[in-house]
Amino acid sequence: MTSPSPYAEVHRDPQGAGDARPTALQIIKDEGLKGKLIGKVIVIAGATSGIGVETARALSATGATLFLPARNLAKANKSLAGILAPGKFSLIPLDLDSFRSIRAGADQILSASNGQVNLLINSAGVMGVPECNLTEDGIESQFSGNYLGFFLLFQLLKESLLASVTPDFSSRVVIVASSAHRAGKLPASDNYNFEKTAYSHETAYNNSKLAAVYLANKIERLYGSQGLHATSLHPGAINTNISRHLSHEAFEAIITNPYVLKILKSPAQGAATTVWAAIGKEWEKKGGKYLEDVKEADRGEDDGQTFGAGWVEQTYDPKKEDCLWIDSLKLARLEG
Ligand SMILES: NC(=O)c1ccc[n+]([C@@H]2O[C@H](COP(=O)([O-])OP(=O)(O)OC[C@H]3O[C@@H](n4cnc5c(N)ncnc54)[C@H](OP(=O)(O)O)[C@@H]3O)[C@@H](O)[C@H]2O)c1
Repeated sequence: MTSPSPYAEVHRDPQGAGDARPTALQIIKDEGLKGKLIGKVIVIAGATSGIGVETARALSATGATLFLPARNLAKANKSLAGILAPGKFSLIPLDLDSFRSIRAGADQILSASNGQVNLLINSAGVMGVPECNLTEDGIESQFSGNYLGFFLLFQLLKESLLASVTPDFSSRVVIVASSAHRAGKLPASDNYNFEKTAYSHETAYNNSKLAAVYLANKIERLYGSQGLHATSLHPGAINTNISRHLSHEAFEAIITNPYVLKILKSPAQGAATTVWAAIGKEWEKKGGKYLEDVKEADRGEDDGQTFGAGWVEQTYDPKKEDCLWIDSLKLARLEG
């Protein structure tokens, strides 16, 4: 059972970005963790833009050591300048669209951290890619950037996450998915890269986000009893670079929609659920749940609405989660 959320009231009638809903830093303060995680190691993918920057800012306030994989070091340095103090974080060259790069980046993290990894967070993502682009490893780019690259990174850091568990500090994996998974479906084993059906960027995004949810569910089932817990979440609607591939018209239609304007969060508010999942007492000893608005999501309507609230029929499906895991080991060339 989840405890009642102390943030329920401020989420009841949102008033747009910067309203009373908590920021990620507020969560750190409320959890009493300012300066309290010195010596812990946190890896955050996607910390170079949008929600990820704010996730890094807040988690840096705990005093933990941050390793931040980044595909473009010059851009990353620019994004984080003035947000994280020099010496408080290490950028790791790592492109989630390249197995070779992920392997090299994971090796670099493990060597710099002496094999310690307490928290692994994925805030990386890509949306709206108009064409069916394949990565150098032959993976459709949204499936790769939102799911498979992180799956491989997790596999390479898994032993360290398990070895870093102590009786008073579980290891955790937090995956920023999306309410778009509510319209997602697990592709057939031979159709992850749209080999059998026509490409649509919406379908690719929705399905990749469902895969991201399934990864957290499966990690919890496999490793929760060993003290490695995992959650997935919807961060809210936040005006970030995630819309970079959308046409001007498509972006305008979203950003001027009165409903969206009301629910819109600032990036700092958008990072709150991630940070709560990563360091909140609530998730210290459990996982396998989909979160939103700094609480475990309630049961929603099976309406296929990408902006809808709550979990849906396909959010939890152990059989499909198992199937995806097996397929992913093959796709990431870890087995088979
Ligand atoms: N914003 C929203 O309303 C919203 C809603 C639901 C879910 N989400 C999810 O929230 C997460 C964060 O999104 P955001 O809004 O913060 O978007 P963003 O500003 O575009 O940030 C995305 C991050 O992912 C990184 N990234 C993308 N592809 C990568 C790759 N191949 N290798 C390494 N890093 C890669 C980007 O790196 P660069 O800096 O190099 O580009 C950036 O750091 C995403 O998973 C997104 O799908 C966002």
